[in-house]
Amino acid sequence: MCGIVGAIAKDNIATYLVDGLRRLEYRGYDSAGIAVIEDNGGLKRSRAVGRVEALEKILVDRPLQGKVGLAHTRWATHGGVTEPNAHPHICRDALALVCNGIVENHSSLRRAQHDAGLPFTSDTDTEVVVHQVYLHKVAGLDLAEAVRHTLGELRGSFAFAVMNVDEPDRLVVARQGPPLLIGITDEGFYVASDIAALLPVTREYIVLENGDVADLRRSSFTITNPNGQLVKRKTLHSRQAGDAAELGEYRHYMQKEIHEQPRAVADTLEGRISRDRVLEESFGHRAQELFSKTQAVQIMACGTSFHAGLVAKHWLEYVGIPCNVEIASEYRYRRHPIQPGTLAITISQSGETADTLSALEEAKRQGVLGSLTICNVPESSLVRESDLQFMTHAGPEVGVASTKTFTTAMTGLMLLALILARRHGYDEGFESHVIRQLRALPSALEDALAMEPEIAIVSRHLGDKQHALFLGRGAHYPTALEGALKLKEISYVHAEAYPAGELKHGPLALVDEDMPVIVVAPNDLLLEKLKSNMEEVRARGGRLYVFSDPETEFEPQDGVEIIRVTQSDNSANHGLNRAVDSAIAPILYTVPLQLLAYHVALIKGTDVDKPRNLAKSVTVE
Ligand code: M6R
Repeated sequence: MCGIVGAIAKDNIATYLVDGLRRLEYRGYDSAGIAVIEDNGGLKRSRAVGRVEALEKILVDRPLQGKVGLAHTRWATHGGVTEPNAHPHICRDALALVCNGIVENHSSLRRAQHDAGLPFTSDTDTEVVVHQVYLHKVAGLDLAEAVRHTLGELRGSFAFAVMNVDEPDRLVVARQGPPLLIGITDEGFYVASDIAALLPVTREYIVLENGDVADLRRSSFTITNPNGQLVKRKTLHSRQAGDAAELGEYRHYMQKEIHEQPRAVADTLEGRISRDRVLEESFGHRAQELFSKTQAVQIMACGTSFHAGLVAKHWLEYVGIPCNVEIASEYRYRRHPIQPGTLAITISQSGETADTLSALEEAKRQGVLGSLTICNVPESSLVRESDLQFMTHAGPEVGVASTKTFTTAMTGLMLLALILARRHGYDEGFESHVIRQLRALPSALEDALAMEPEIAIVSRHLGDKQHALFLGRGAHYPTALEGALKLKEISYVHAEAYPAGELKHGPLALVDEDMPVIVVAPNDLLLEKLKSNMEEVRARGGRLYVFSDPETEFEPQDGVEIIRVTQSDNSANHGLNRAVDSAIAPILYTVPLQLLAYHVALIKGTDVDKPRNLAKSVTVE
């Protein structure tokens, strides 16, 4: 799970490569490197452990210049975080190569290459790729042919780019798994794992398909398939906003993105609902055909996106649609009896999560009715691979912790539930009630954001803690799961979430005065049950932090802190029944929990936007 950039152009490309790395840093950020073929024909490389920034510092003292080059930002899979393991990897001072992904059969190849006398300078699986290309080259194959042969010999999922010091007007790239895009300009060709790195130079691009090898020259290129036949790939035009945004008044992208939620949800709703009806076409041109046949739903996703799926399960089952939700990495390796009329749904911010893509593949193999993705990146693989697409209009999310893409994904899922409810006999009154609630959501989210100063104070109680327990019931159990994930992800506090009724079956043993217990307690049908669960905690000396509506009439007392999640008159949607209110509540209650995690992380002094060991987009298994 790394980021690749490459370029072959008429002018110096080094600046582009470094800028591209910065834009791909979300994919991995434990080391970075760059290699160019200089105008005098020499191969030059610089690598650094740490952020792209560390590499930039080296380049200030020792600048590189060239018209063809490669660069890489790494998230370690094989081999520790060291400079020798950073890419690009070089073979015999002739070939330089960067790779994203995993080569599963690297050990056997390594042995054979070792026997062939090739020296190893790293512990990575990538080094066997550059050696393998080299062996084919010295056996007499042309560079692109050598890459194609290598591609056929590697097992796993990867994309790579390679250049040869003797052919400074050539860059060869290949894909077998993770995405690889070629940006097209009059000045040359640019290669990247993600459109974000191409946007500074072009909006015109091609997406390589699995098995493709692209041979890029300065003013033309060819693509061949695994059989060596020339193929054409469609040129696409990106409409994505050019700059993933400045920080502005915010300290971190995560904070900024939390505060963008009212706008992001409003943008996600825009054009998707008429006065009182969800427009089915927002899900793609085959929406009517597939929704009319949908009898059940199978959701597959990872991390935060999985939590959005768990909330959606409550909504879909409420309106009578059987719904199964599974972590994508588990789904892909299991047999599943598929009910007739099952719509497979993937949820993903990036649209590139390897486990989710494979789960979708598996679901298709099993013969689902069709597929829908709820996704934030229009150019992503999941969008391309799905029959229907609902784009969340959250805008680029830079912070590793998903925030606005969680609330916008839930918004999209709510629209889906309304469409399926209509098709399963719910009356129009139900749909228009929920739509009124959704229209009020951006304003209600503003109210939730106004709680930040109060939450910053509450966070001081958690600043010195190592563990925390989150409780919720019903559709708020996933909210609790998400609150716990945010806390552990960015503040490294060990946090667990439980359906509150489960407490007495084990986790209650953990509760003492050092264990903060955070409770998601809106005024819904399960509130009375939840109150009993809270009493169980109080009786064991546990300290409670209760996020609740004003109507719940919880009173603060010793050991019980009440944090009111209120809606101003502006956002409160009077006259709606409680079931509908409850439906929207999981989206609203997420916001204070995001803020809580953020403020605990500030106290802990962690790297909020780039937490240790993680990457924004997980494109390896
Ligand atoms: O891009 P995706 O939504 O498919 O990513 C899935 C997870 O990797 C992601 O939600 C991850 O759990 C986040 N870092 C959580 O904040």
